[in-house]
Amino acid sequence: MTEAQFIPKPYTKTVESGKVTWESPSNIALVKYWGKKKDQIPENPSISFTLSHCKTITTVSFSKKETNNAFSFEVFLDGENKDDFKPKIETFFKRIEVYLPFLKDYHFNIETTNTFPHSSGIASSASGMSALALCLMSIEKQLNDAVTEAYCNKKASFLARLGSGSACRSIEGDLVVWGKHGNIEGSSDLFGIKYPYTIHENFKNYQDTILLVDKGEKQVSSSVGHNLMYYHPFAEERFKQAHNNLSKLMTILESGDLNAFIALIESEALTLHAMMMTSMPYFILMKPNTLEIINKIWDFRKKSGWHIGFTLDAGANVHVLYPEKESNQILEFINNELVAYIENAHYIVDKIGLGAKQLTIDN
Ligand code: DP6
Repeated sequence: MTEAQFIPKPYTKTVESGKVTWESPSNIALVKYWGKKKDQIPENPSISFTLSHCKTITTVSFSKKETNNAFSFEVFLDGENKDDFKPKIETFFKRIEVYLPFLKDYHFNIETTNTFPHSSGIASSASGMSALALCLMSIEKQLNDAVTEAYCNKKASFLARLGSGSACRSIEGDLVVWGKHGNIEGSSDLFGIKYPYTIHENFKNYQDTILLVDKGEKQVSSSVGHNLMYYHPFAEERFKQAHNNLSKLMTILESGDLNAFIALIESEALTLHAMMMTSMPYFILMKPNTLEIINKIWDFRKKSGWHIGFTLDAGANVHVLYPEKESNQILEFINNELVAYIENAHYIVDKIGLGAKQLTIDN
């Protein structure tokens, strides 16, 4: 599929105004996306668990306006006007205008809220951009009701990618691949697809407890980090490694080998941060408590034999991953041993989820 296939035929219907609401989850990558080409094309394929509780709920109200020479919208977070979100959305609209030609015909009120605290260090761009893309697709569906649900999902993922790369993995669940991989049929650089092969029971309902080590703003944004992969001395090897790790993960997902799973995801997380530390300029997003937690996890795993592992995103927070059947023991360990290292003992117990949901359509 090429980009051109997402340019719609002239719309068959007219709609004056309406309101759509979607909730869309965050996701956590197992094989990481770090490095991109022009137009949000990833340098390597990635795969993520879709989360269940960490999500954004977005309502878009739209009404036809008289002129159609500029974008017109307001953004609200938790009921408060958020002018500082506007440039990002304006850029997003510019990138997707060719695929959604109705964007300049309407005024949009975008009201958004997150189930996780704004200042938690959990990135809301994946859940936020995917929720917005889904709302826009619901509007497009009203203008042309011939579009199928499968097409809506695919195009929502395609659009979300243009807002934030990882957002294209937040439309569906439970495991989503984004980026062309030779062994994964249907995989594409343009949008995420639901992982199409067997997943062992061990990974069903997999748990992700997010330890909020540092709730402050990130010192270096993901966009800046991706750009630093351009002249990175290890970039080519890293991109090859991600392809290989995804191949290995496919075997692991089928066999249910938890030890191999943990080794792979932890190596991916540390490699991501190693790329940051070895770029020019270099930077470190982990905090001392991130390392304390990692060491505690390794220690506990060695002593207890429980299948506890971690991954990291582009920040200091630690995602503790474990199979559902070991939840009791691992939550006890988190409560006894790890809460000391997190801000205000704040953590979020999440797990694999099934993807975004439409909440209401109200014309
Ligand atoms: C470390 O998707 O936030 O979380 O495309 O510039 O918006 P942009 O970047 P973004 O990068 C996420 C990077 C990551 C790894 C991942 O989610 O795969």
